[in-house]
Amino acid sequence: MISLNNKHILLGVSGSIAAYKSAELVRRLKDAGADVRVALTKGGAEFITPLTFQALSGNPVHTNLLDTEAEAAMGHIALARWADAILVAPASANFIARLAQGRADDLLGAICLATDSTIAIAPAMNQQMWANTATQENLQQLRQRGILQFGPGEGDQACGETGPGRMLEANQLAAHTANIFETGLLSGRTVLLIAGPTQEAIDPVRYLSNHSSGKMGYAIAQAAAEAGAKVILISGPTALATPPRVERINVRSAQQMFDTVMQHVANSDIFISTAAVADYRPINIAQQKIKKTKDTLTLELQRNPDILAAVAALKNAPFTVGFAAETESLEQHAQEKLERKGVDMIAANLVGEGIAFEADENALLVLTAENKQQLATASKFMLGRQLINIIAKQHHI
Ligand code: PMT
Repeated sequence: MISLNNKHILLGVSGSIAAYKSAELVRRLKDAGADVRVALTKGGAEFITPLTFQALSGNPVHTNLLDTEAEAAMGHIALARWADAILVAPASANFIARLAQGRADDLLGAICLATDSTIAIAPAMNQQMWANTATQENLQQLRQRGILQFGPGEGDQACGETGPGRMLEANQLAAHTANIFETGLLSGRTVLLIAGPTQEAIDPVRYLSNHSSGKMGYAIAQAAAEAGAKVILISGPTALATPPRVERINVRSAQQMFDTVMQHVANSDIFISTAAVADYRPINIAQQKIKKTKDTLTLELQRNPDILAAVAALKNAPFTVGFAAETESLEQHAQEKLERKGVDMIAANLVGEGIAFEADENALLVLTAENKQQLATASKFMLGRQLINIIAKQHHI
């Protein structure tokens, strides 16, 4: 079963009779878990209506570059940033030529120029147009620029001829699109990850906790699984679904998280500590609900074990990645944590009301003893993939 869980796929549809298959493609991409937006060229709209794509994708369809209303809602730059991948299916001979030239005189062309996400094309055209040297030279240029090419297939064509130039079927294209995210960078490795908040019991109904939603950690877990790793996610209480192919173990308190990590760490190659672990817990947990008899209540707290520092101090420690949540002097505090906790890498984020905690987006400063790298504000899923790429590179050194 293919997975495009939480992926933003921008489907470009250019002018070809194969555009009818793109309606089915939207269904297949959505079945795999993707959020799909469609950018329809003028040529594409001659073959299939925006209404069809709007109904199937559940999102407005994007058609015009120079449309003030559309640009105000979600303009070409926002769409280019939104997309985790762009799939142009069908990609007509004309669209391929325009993409090769770097033209930005329509919406889809402008989005393709403005994105740093992967672009894939699914060519669809008459077999003579496909064989033409001009088309083949354009395709070669696109491949050299890292643009992926899915198909075409061979067979009977709508024009009555037979040969190469048929757009691949919707299920094949959805599977190829899912493969974009399957990097294999960590295949054969085991990643142990902690995420979410911990809850430190005060009495049977109350606890101390924090605002961590688990989103950052779960996004990294998903990216690690897509990179081919075996992923064990030890999670504090969250409302999130477990990412595909991730083994999840639920815990509540910091002590339970610590114990569970220690049970699994010996077999792991990489440890990532995204959890917002409570630093302190009540010394005494009341057996019964505490009654409000007094105006003030004093809780005496004791330190929780530092999971990250304990893992980093192990004799055969895995490659250890900590997080730093700071409200000021981000780099300075992160640098200090890198050294004090003895970890291989720190991903630091500024936190505050609506910043990092609970948000869908974040920004990270990634530090090692030798390097520093700023990952600009992006979705936590995008950042998760970027972080996994950096970890994989460092881990292989
Ligand atoms: O879950 P989200 O809503 O998506 O929010 C994400 C996040 C803001 C929680 C996440 O990006 C983040 O910053 N996680 C670390 C939070 C934290 O506890 O930071 P810290 O600077 O207090 O701790 C430093 C490191 O030590 C962290 O890796 C932490 O997991 C670890 N730690 C802390 C205390 C403790 N007792 N044991 C630990 O292992």
